[in-house]
Amino acid sequence: MRLSELVSRRKFLRLGLGSAAALLGGGVVGNSLRAQNEPGGQPDSTLPQHAAHHDVNSMLVGQVDHKRNLFDPMQMLVDWDYGKVSTLPNGQALREYNIFAADHEIEIAPGIFFPAWTFNARVPGPSLRCVEGDRIRIHFTNVGTHPHTLHFHGIHTAEMDGVPGVGPGEIGVGGTFVYEFDAEPFGCHLYHCHAQPLKRHIHKGLYGAFIIDPPEGRPPAREFMMMMNAFDTNFDGENEIYAVNTVGHEYARRPIPIKVGELVRIYLINITEFDPINSFHLHAEFFDYYDHGTTLTPTLRTVDTIMQVQAQRGILEFRYRWPGQYMFHAHVSEFAELGWMGFFNAVEPENFEAALAEVGLDAEWDRRGTQGSAIQVREGVS
Ligand code: CU
Ligand code: CU
Repeated sequence: MRLSELVSRRKFLRLGLGSAAALLGGGVVGNSLRAQNEPGGQPDSTLPQHAAHHDVNSMLVGQVDHKRNLFDPMQMLVDWDYGKVSTLPNGQALREYNIFAADHEIEIAPGIFFPAWTFNARVPGPSLRCVEGDRIRIHFTNVGTHPHTLHFHGIHTAEMDGVPGVGPGEIGVGGTFVYEFDAEPFGCHLYHCHAQPLKRHIHKGLYGAFIIDPPEGRPPAREFMMMMNAFDTNFDGENEIYAVNTVGHEYARRPIPIKVGELVRIYLINITEFDPINSFHLHAEFFDYYDHGTTLTPTLRTVDTIMQVQAQRGILEFRYRWPGQYMFHAHVSEFAELGWMGFFNAVEPENFEAALAEVGLDAEWDRRGTQGSAIQVREGVS
């Protein structure tokens, strides 16, 4: 198998480059955080003006180089990967994905680098999206420096479970394997590496969202994928940076545009290692919650805070009534101050285009957010 078939040339060329800075570890982090916490720090004048309002003393300041990272958390909210879709002789939709594991250094907060292990050179990995009953075929290649696996939360045979010692077990460096199973049950799920030692393979960044749409779909909404994650930058078994979609405070620097009155649906997943519980708290509104996303009616109604253990996930639905900037964050103050805090920017529809432009987004981001269901993509092909 040719690697160039699996990865874009641009991504491949970046793999494995320069991990040295990250090895500096805790000293860098400690100094950075101290500097950022000093009073009187000036907001970066290149930031969108309203975002600068959120530069409080307890917030990470500066900007992350998303191009160097090869991913942008704003795009990760909506960049569903539907796979290459075709139809099997029995009429079933087949979705084929290419996933490679690779070492790749990423910037998780301004100036703070982390020697990540990644799926497709990003953390989290691609947000795989399909419809219940689709056939899923994943061509997995390990171009990293350690054995890895792909373990899906879903229903499948033992051989396809991606754990050490069962079926193909750990896929060695340079190895490949094809994982294949039917997508069920519908819901908000995840996949991650299950190689040993497990906590190391998870906290290094080997995980991603696995969204299975119900066959009848869900009501139209603006949809986002949010992976609650954290990073142990000095490898002492505790996290130094917390985030949604990897980059600390990115959604505080660039508030997420939404429209007043529209239904917002969040596919929320907690993969945080080392801390037993993470949480999501929404300001100035309440939401309905679907634990694991495996039901079409809420499992919790009218709440403003939920907690998730590692690998727990669920779907949140809410609408904002009035324009404004609304905070969301982990209701563990330490996590919020170390990166896990953001804002929604709710605007009237006529102001939406301007709100997009303010944070570097366009109509395509809007389209992916509001037409994300995998059902259309399947029907478009078969
Ligand atoms: Cu691994
Ligand atoms: Cu798991």
